[in-house]
Amino acid sequence: MLTLLPDSADPREVRADLVAVPVFKGGIDGPGVQLTLAALGLDAFPVTPDFRGEIGQSLLLAAPGIAAAGVLLVGLGRMDEVDATRLREAAGVAARAGAEVERIATTLAQVDAGRATLEAVAEGFALGAHADHRFRTRDGGAPRLREVVVLVPSTQMEDARAALAHATVTARATLAARDLVNLPPDRKRPPELAGLIADLAGPACEVRVRDRDDLAREGFGGLLAVGRGSSAGPRLVELHYRPEDPLGSVVVAGKGITFDTGGLNLKRGTSLAAMKSDMAGAAAVAAACSALADLGIRVEVTGLCALAENMPGGDAQRPSDVLASYGGTTVEVLDTDAEGRLVLADALRYGAGLGPDAMVDLATLTGAAATAVGPYAAALMGTDDALVGDLRQAAQVAGEDVWPLPLWPALERFLDTPVADLVNTGDDHGGGSIMGGLFLRRFTAGVPWAHLDIAGPAFLEPELARGHMPAGGTGFGVRTLLAWLERRPA
Ligand code: BES
Ligand code: MN
Ligand code: ZN
Repeated sequence: MLTLLPDSADPREVRADLVAVPVFKGGIDGPGVQLTLAALGLDAFPVTPDFRGEIGQSLLLAAPGIAAAGVLLVGLGRMDEVDATRLREAAGVAARAGAEVERIATTLAQVDAGRATLEAVAEGFALGAHADHRFRTRDGGAPRLREVVVLVPSTQMEDARAALAHATVTARATLAARDLVNLPPDRKRPPELAGLIADLAGPACEVRVRDRDDLAREGFGGLLAVGRGSSAGPRLVELHYRPEDPLGSVVVAGKGITFDTGGLNLKRGTSLAAMKSDMAGAAAVAAACSALADLGIRVEVTGLCALAENMPGGDAQRPSDVLASYGGTTVEVLDTDAEGRLVLADALRYGAGLGPDAMVDLATLTGAAATAVGPYAAALMGTDDALVGDLRQAAQVAGEDVWPLPLWPALERFLDTPVADLVNTGDDHGGGSIMGGLFLRRFTAGVPWAHLDIAGPAFLEPELARGHMPAGGTGFGVRTLLAWLERRPA
């Protein structure tokens, strides 16, 4: 993770390899960059066919007139549409365009003077500069960028220090989630992932790991059923963050399928390789929990990571098996590829028994979520309008896109079966994400609950990478959870 430093230096004199400056669409320069322009001997920023100041665009120019070797023009799009979310993305673009140098200074945060802007710019750089080169033994073009100097007026230095410290924590947590998601699936089978999660969140939380025997003794039938086909048993990792005099308590639960083959309802084709990311919900929960103490969160938080490997094996569950999930509700498993809801049913029902004020789960639950709201957004469902509203606001602060879907009562009957209390999938009548939400709701025992289906944005194919969102694991959901917990009223 790179170092973020506030500084009130003149952009012409700042010691850096590059100065990244904002340019609005049409080549209109942003505030705070006139100095740089003058130093470059230019009247206006160049507009070329490849650089029109659009979001996602950047242009590198040599800068003989200033201390830095070059100027990186960073497109922000239309001036009247620029907000913190846009700046986060632009900063990510700048970090990637400047990945070859060690130190970038930037006037991007001067577009407006707010704390949200400062945090967004800092986060964008930290998130954009990240790449996963853990398994390359040859030089593979890893980013060299080590330091970003965020230039602010001297009156804003105090604010900037606080904002950059905050962004360092939220970005570090996001990157930790990415690193777990990007880990090859043979290196994060449930027992091993449980250990990695304990290492990550351990400093901030008490950790309890339930192994297969513990789960059997306590009746976690969903985790056991999904894990049956794998030689590496399921785990439930319980993280507990206890601040002094807590203002309330919440449960956050994450789907942690370390690899989803579909089970006996085997998946086919190229989509299989992306299924190492099917533990992204659990990774987001663990990473968010790791940052609670650093952010001074005042709410008591229980993180539940429901880990299993969904494999077709000699002892794998069969379509039409009936399991008893935690608490005794029986489920007829008609499709072993609808496994996420089975492990989450256990986690949610167990979490509800802890008596929290609210529960939130994150899960790469259905491909249908990305079909409904696109690849960059999560689908949001829940039983409590205030909670859903709070999460929407938190996502906005975090710069993550979430959009609500309805839990239509009329679809409830498709969960019925004469064989058990409910089925994990009925006939497909559409509304796949909603069906997932309706299923999970049955395990919330009346506790206010919301569900984020992150199947789209948790993991991006290379052609979808943009700005601060890289190919592979994105860490989606970490910052929404943290913003929600920070803003939670007493
Ligand atoms: N892990 C998948 C969902 C998924 C698909 C995540 C694509 C990310 C990208 C989940 O376990 C699954 O297989 N869901 C099924 C549900 C169906 C069997 C009801 C799906 O989406 O097809
Ligand atoms: Mn599946
Ligand atoms: Zn899955």
